[in-house]
Amino acid sequence: MPTKIISDLQKERLLYEPKMPNVLKGDLSRLGLKKINKNVHNSQQDVINKLFPNTSNLPYVVFEQGENEPDPSCSQKVNIGVVLSGGQAPGGHNVISGMFDAIKEFNSGSNLIGFLGGPYGLLTGESREITKDMIDSYRNTGGFDMIGSGRTKIDTDEQFAMVQKVLEDKEIKGLVIVGGDDSNTNAGILAEYLKSKGSDISVVGVPKTIDGDLKGENIPVSFGFDTATKVYADLVGNIQRDALSARKYWHFIKLMGRSASHVTLEVALQTRPNLVLISEEVEKKNMTLSQVVDIILDTVTRRFEKGYDFGVALIPEGIIEFIPEVKKLISDINEILVENNEKFHHFHNKDEKIDFINDNLSISSSLLYQSLPNDIKDELILDRDPHGNVQVSKIETEKLLIELLRKRLNFLKSSGEYKGKFSFQTHFLGYEGRSGFPSNFDANYCYSLGKVAFMLIQNSCTGYIASVYGKSSDISTWQCGGVPINSMITIERRHGKEKPVIKKALVDLEGKPFAALVEHREKWAFENQYHFPGAIQYFGPEELTDRIPKSLALES
Ligand code: FBP
Repeated sequence: MPTKIISDLQKERLLYEPKMPNVLKGDLSRLGLKKINKNVHNSQQDVINKLFPNTSNLPYVVFEQGENEPDPSCSQKVNIGVVLSGGQAPGGHNVISGMFDAIKEFNSGSNLIGFLGGPYGLLTGESREITKDMIDSYRNTGGFDMIGSGRTKIDTDEQFAMVQKVLEDKEIKGLVIVGGDDSNTNAGILAEYLKSKGSDISVVGVPKTIDGDLKGENIPVSFGFDTATKVYADLVGNIQRDALSARKYWHFIKLMGRSASHVTLEVALQTRPNLVLISEEVEKKNMTLSQVVDIILDTVTRRFEKGYDFGVALIPEGIIEFIPEVKKLISDINEILVENNEKFHHFHNKDEKIDFINDNLSISSSLLYQSLPNDIKDELILDRDPHGNVQVSKIETEKLLIELLRKRLNFLKSSGEYKGKFSFQTHFLGYEGRSGFPSNFDANYCYSLGKVAFMLIQNSCTGYIASVYGKSSDISTWQCGGVPINSMITIERRHGKEKPVIKKALVDLEGKPFAALVEHREKWAFENQYHFPGAIQYFGPEELTDRIPKSLALES
């Protein structure tokens, strides 16, 4: 076998020893588990209890350093499964490393089995045993390539039965599903299914997604958010410096984050651009597409009057779905696609598809649909992802906004009210940030999440998300435990049906991170107070290497 050549940084990162909460530093077999009952105020609780009769109303759990004699059964040889699900997020390999080290601490003969290609591997049983050599060549690296990932949705009873068979054939004691809101919902449904069949196999989730929208009590942030936003902030800072130097372009930068605007907000707090759109604010203010364009127009024209015919604007990927009239249009399209699935897929021609949708829309949605450029009309009717979501990363929102803006600027030009040039560049930052070397924060957080996920299985917890949480930036003081998945479940309409899903955590318009943006955005718009955060630092003073996300620091 030829020796794999790896970069100098990779060599150094393989040797990095993640920092951990104090509670995980001692003998794991002596950890005690404290149960905390909380009153859940959820108007849908009765429906949820019916859907999850075996896993509803579970207590929160917290690990405590114990003096207990370890239970001899906990050192038995076991097989544990792990699957990576959905989009890549920096730190996934460290979740697996943390699990591996914890498993081997209990019994060096125990096995960690990685299911290949995401949930698809759970259906087919395609898997590989994770060895020490593998782990040692992936520690603190980005990507999910150790076992791959995917977006297969496991939905039907038949599929759950297939997963149960695969797990039983491999004598798996517990399965860890590393994923976002949809994958962790699936973890909850699988846990319930297995319990209902009398199985003892535990299912535990781990909060992953660069979008940052899987969070809640005892889940401060999903992993990957920190690294991804630092990568984007570095790039946005560089673009700002280029804009400031050349003074000739407006840069419109769309930032990944399917629904919530956490990524955009965090990057804005790190870089101070001239214009920041926050989808949740647009929705709250019930703004039309035209009013969103008004905001951009106002900033562009006022900056020109100040002598700045350039600027940088951040646009969240999901904004299109938060403009109420567009949201209604998308939901109408979804219903038409569900009701006419077969008929729709018989059309081969793009225009036929567009006409078909248009003919079936309500008058208001049809008027809006007709007013959109053809490319956008087409992008809005693309296939939904397996979870029923519109694939917003494929909708060129930034181009739509620019096209509408240019029409307005041309109108103002014709009446002599605007004399600027308005040259622009568009960017989409998304995939660039999903597989980078995890920051120290993500490397530390994920390694601990992996250990905690295994410890939950050791304690026969099922239907939980592993949780590592605290208020200070010093992870040694953080606590570890599990959050019942069902405490996060709500009922939503997907694919035309009512479904239980984990509620996406959107940007809190009453929260401190958004307040910080509101406080400064007028100054940032007109005074060029750009910040240049630079690349992620892995070596050097802790203020640089161990910096936590700004929004997390403000929330704490
Ligand atoms: P997850 O929710 O699975 O973590 O994925 C998030 C995300 O990166 C979104 O920000 C983006 O809209 C989407 O995945 C892109 O999906 P794909 O990887 O299938 O192109």
